[in-house]
Amino acid sequence: MKALVLSGGKGTRLRPLTFTCAKQLIPVANKPILGYVLDQVAATPIKKVGIITAPETGHFVENYVADGSSWNLDACYIPQKPLGLAHAVKTAKPFLGKDSFVMCLGDNVTGQGLAGFIKKFKADHLDALIILKEVDNPSSFGIAQLDEKGNIIRLVEKPKTPMGNLAIIGTYLFSNRVHDAIERIKPSWRGELEITDAIQEMINLGFAVKAEILNSWWLDTGKKDDILSANARILDEYVQLDVKGKVINSTIVGRVKIEAGAQILNSIVRGPCVIGRNVLIENSFIGPYTSVGDDSKICNSSLEYCVVQECVSVQNVERLEDSLIGKNAKVARSPRGRIIKLNVGDYSELEV
Ligand code: G1P
Repeated sequence: MKALVLSGGKGTRLRPLTFTCAKQLIPVANKPILGYVLDQVAATPIKKVGIITAPETGHFVENYVADGSSWNLDACYIPQKPLGLAHAVKTAKPFLGKDSFVMCLGDNVTGQGLAGFIKKFKADHLDALIILKEVDNPSSFGIAQLDEKGNIIRLVEKPKTPMGNLAIIGTYLFSNRVHDAIERIKPSWRGELEITDAIQEMINLGFAVKAEILNSWWLDTGKKDDILSANARILDEYVQLDVKGKVINSTIVGRVKIEAGAQILNSIVRGPCVIGRNVLIENSFIGPYTSVGDDSKICNSSLEYCVVQECVSVQNVERLEDSLIGKNAKVARSPRGRIIKLNVGDYSELEV
């Protein structure tokens, strides 16, 4: 079995961060989302992973994953135009060959590993296993309708009138028969070859297709608020008290990870949070669910529920909440009181 990890797309909903970074590389708890996806692949017996990339951001992804050896995986890259998930599988056919494979979206994270799904896929000799989760906004996803025994009746991509609330999450397992189905489908109204249509075609052809409901959380990190939720969830689940940096005249409360070279001076840090390498926190309050990237400086400020990336400077900001701040950004309160002075990139969003 192989893995196909989708790390293409334009990331338009995460602009301006995605002008200089692939959306899958935005960090949560100071680690790119794609890193968590690869951790889950690495925890299975799968060794070969094909990574689908977009022309605009592929080099960022290649730079991060390299040959895959950091995960003990053998990674290769498959450039693709954004023409749909089924088109990605079609493009990856030379890599996939006759093997069955797990397909994961590089910007979706769950709290459940892949091992159980692989076991079921093999034990039941399936051609497709799709993973579902209840959502509040079914029109934004591929939706599955099940009968009372849990068999799939039908699948619809982003239904205008949803026939249920079970969304297809970004984890799929396929046998090589998926390629036969993809050959038979046509692009959807959005001009994409939809994997949902391919799976529906597999059902129509009488192939063995089953669904399983995810019993953990699932986060599709397509927008700013999703990144903040994923950050909070991952900090909550994985961070333990681990102080490598210097803490001087400061209070650390709860589960806080402070990396080597960081300095916390005259401040309060309340977990769960992570403070990256060589970060300086001075005369500040860092509240729960905040991640501060390497080499950032936070002085005379108060932050809560934020993702601050690398080399950021935050100065004299009384209260910063629910914020996602890109690399090398500077945020400071104007010395002239209420006056706001901005130098903001295209597609930025500010609430002042
Ligand atoms: C894609 C799939 C959709 C699925 C979703 C999960 O949507 O087409 O069926 O529910 O991923 O994140 P897209 O991200 O292309 O809008």
